[in-house]
Amino acid sequence: MPTSEEEPQRDGAAGRGSAHAKVILFGEHAVVHGAPALALPIDTLGIDAVARYRSGPLRLVSDIYTGDLADAPDLLDSPRAVVTAAIAAFDLPVDGIEITVTGEVPPARGLGSSAAVAGALARALADLAGRELGDEEYLELVAVGERVAHGAPSGLDAHATAAGAPIIFEAGVARVLPHRTSGYLVVADSGVAGRTRRAVASVATFLERHPVRGAALMAGLGALAQQGALDLVAGRREQVGARMAEAQGMLRELGVSSPELDRIVDAALAAGALGAKLTGGGQGGCAIALVADPEGAAAVAEAMRAAGAVATWIHRIGPSDGRAG
Ligand code: MEV
Repeated sequence: MPTSEEEPQRDGAAGRGSAHAKVILFGEHAVVHGAPALALPIDTLGIDAVARYRSGPLRLVSDIYTGDLADAPDLLDSPRAVVTAAIAAFDLPVDGIEITVTGEVPPARGLGSSAAVAGALARALADLAGRELGDEEYLELVAVGERVAHGAPSGLDAHATAAGAPIIFEAGVARVLPHRTSGYLVVADSGVAGRTRRAVASVATFLERHPVRGAALMAGLGALAQQGALDLVAGRREQVGARMAEAQGMLRELGVSSPELDRIVDAALAAGALGAKLTGGGQGGCAIALVADPEGAAAVAEAMRAAGAVATWIHRIGPSDGRAG
């Protein structure tokens, strides 16, 4: 039997996992109430996790915190819950592992960072244990973290941050969407932390106070997701953009936009975007704008920054054959 001192050398093995950001094109919030939603993977913004045997207590190395996982700040409750659940699921030792997390998905910006971190952790620990991680087990482990981060997540982020192509998601089931649309999506960070849990709660309050209008908005957002999916499949970029602007009006009425997001969205439209809206939980976080060509995308990104965005990313959308990877 190796001693625990010898264990890291004995194994020397590293388990690796990654996942990426996502944007929701249509259907955020309504998806929590059963409507369909459409999300795109942003695989240029990734999270990587590496898990290694190393003597001592279970340890995390990251930009936000480095030290024993047990002493990590509350902010890291979600990844801590995922690590604990994964260690139990894969029969790994509760001590003697160091996990390093790196990546470019900004936290609390509506880009799925909590699901991406959870996904990368689940995959790295499964890899360290030499285990195949099936889709269902993956999604359940990510859901452990998402419940801590957001309360009652729809499951959309868990699917979208693992998907290799756009997905349409409804009632817990994700379908990959083959499509013929090309263009550029400008993602702009409002610089204000999004508050998904609070935004989800304010939509619930809206639905209680205004049941008829609330139901109409949920149905309207769901219909935009369905029609937007058809437009995407058929390559009707202009219509996708027009529906994004319509969705933003509904999200604004629900109270999940913010003055900062409104300014950035309006600036993108004034600079020639085909459509623009908030993405994800809202009340902060990011806005997205759809643009036809790279020059237009650069101009829209500049306008969004002039309107207060602290960072922008330009993501190319190309036709997809609907294969997952
Ligand atoms: C968060 O990215 C999307 C929401 O619809 C919440 C969820 O789907 O769980 C706001």
